[in-house]
Amino acid sequence: MSIIKVALLGFGTVGEGVYRTIQSHQEELRAAIGKNVEVVAILIKNKEKKRAIDSEVLITTDFEDIIGLPDLDVVFEAIVEKEPSFTYLKRALLKGCHIITANKEMFSHHGKELIELAAEQQVSVGFEATVAGGVPIIQTLQQLLKINNVSAIQGILNGTSNFILTEMREKKQTFIEALKLAQQNGYAEADPGNDINGCDAYFKLMVLSGIAFGEQPELSCVKINGITDITIEQIELADKLGLRFKHIASIDRKEDRLHATVIPTLVSKAHPFYHVEGVENAVNVRTDLIGSITLQGPGAGMFPTASAMVEDLVQVLQSPATEVKSRKQKTVVKKDEQTHATSYWLVCKLKKRLSLNSISYSDQLSEEVYAIKASKDQLVKLYEQNADLITYPILGTFELESERKEATLLLTR
Ligand code: HSE
Repeated sequence: MSIIKVALLGFGTVGEGVYRTIQSHQEELRAAIGKNVEVVAILIKNKEKKRAIDSEVLITTDFEDIIGLPDLDVVFEAIVEKEPSFTYLKRALLKGCHIITANKEMFSHHGKELIELAAEQQVSVGFEATVAGGVPIIQTLQQLLKINNVSAIQGILNGTSNFILTEMREKKQTFIEALKLAQQNGYAEADPGNDINGCDAYFKLMVLSGIAFGEQPELSCVKINGITDITIEQIELADKLGLRFKHIASIDRKEDRLHATVIPTLVSKAHPFYHVEGVENAVNVRTDLIGSITLQGPGAGMFPTASAMVEDLVQVLQSPATEVKSRKQKTVVKKDEQTHATSYWLVCKLKKRLSLNSISYSDQLSEEVYAIKASKDQLVKLYEQNADLITYPILGTFELESERKEATLLLTR
């Protein structure tokens, strides 16, 4: 039986997960591709660190040792940052190898170039692991895009943030304690900055945008806020109102323009993201034919992410040199989404209320904290008057106490 020879670039949580999965799932791989899969080389950073790797595997800190290997079929990449990953993967493609990556930062910037180069070289690119860990959202989107037009995507795309928010609410952990636990569990990046400042979810959203819409919005047009402003007090207050904090990345196309935000959001019990807890991710896709579907599953961690990469291995070997489908979508303009449409917000540090008659305020919920019903235009005015204002949109069914009272009065009349 012939052998598929693979190299791993990186042996952190994900790289090790891929190595162990290939070892433990030889039988399944043989059944799927009719060949043995052998890890022949691993690129590491620190030679001193002890690792459980077979003695026949070449372990090196020099990429040249790997790219010089004869008969290499597939290169897996699980490093961080754009470089040197992009250069390594380009060289692997030019050598005629299939590539499989989990590097969302690099792929959100250079995915298009890599896919084009792979097509020229008649090989394939697997990138399922760049978004939402073990959730097969890339394959699902590619399948849907054959006929459907996608109008919007919304997701909880960072497992670490969701884990921290859940721990803070359920176990009353501090932000730092919860982050430490996420690191111990192998969910967070080596430098967790991008997990908590929203950038990791932004990179993932841009990968999805590239596939679903064939383009990405300008970075300067995307509002990106992480979860670091959220306090235990806000979480507890939200809980009392029947709301949970989720870090939500959204993109849609209106009037032929892409609109994207990556921001902490409150969701009510009626919203499908309310029960997405811990390290889980969820992605909701709206299309013209299906309406809406939501995929949910573990968004980070050694084996869920390794699963996505090893599934990609089967995919690239079974159907090599397939073009990744992404195309310009038909524009669907919706009338009800103007900026003067009102919705609900939790506003914190509101020192100066504006007496615009169309903003409805709840009673003060805590010091300088209110729930309000207002349009985006009105919100801009509130920001002008309140330098430190923090606002969180509320998704799902919600109403202010005054509205509830009014509805009860109408019913009892
Ligand atoms: N640090 C990432 C997360 C890993 O927490 O979602 C998966 O991309």
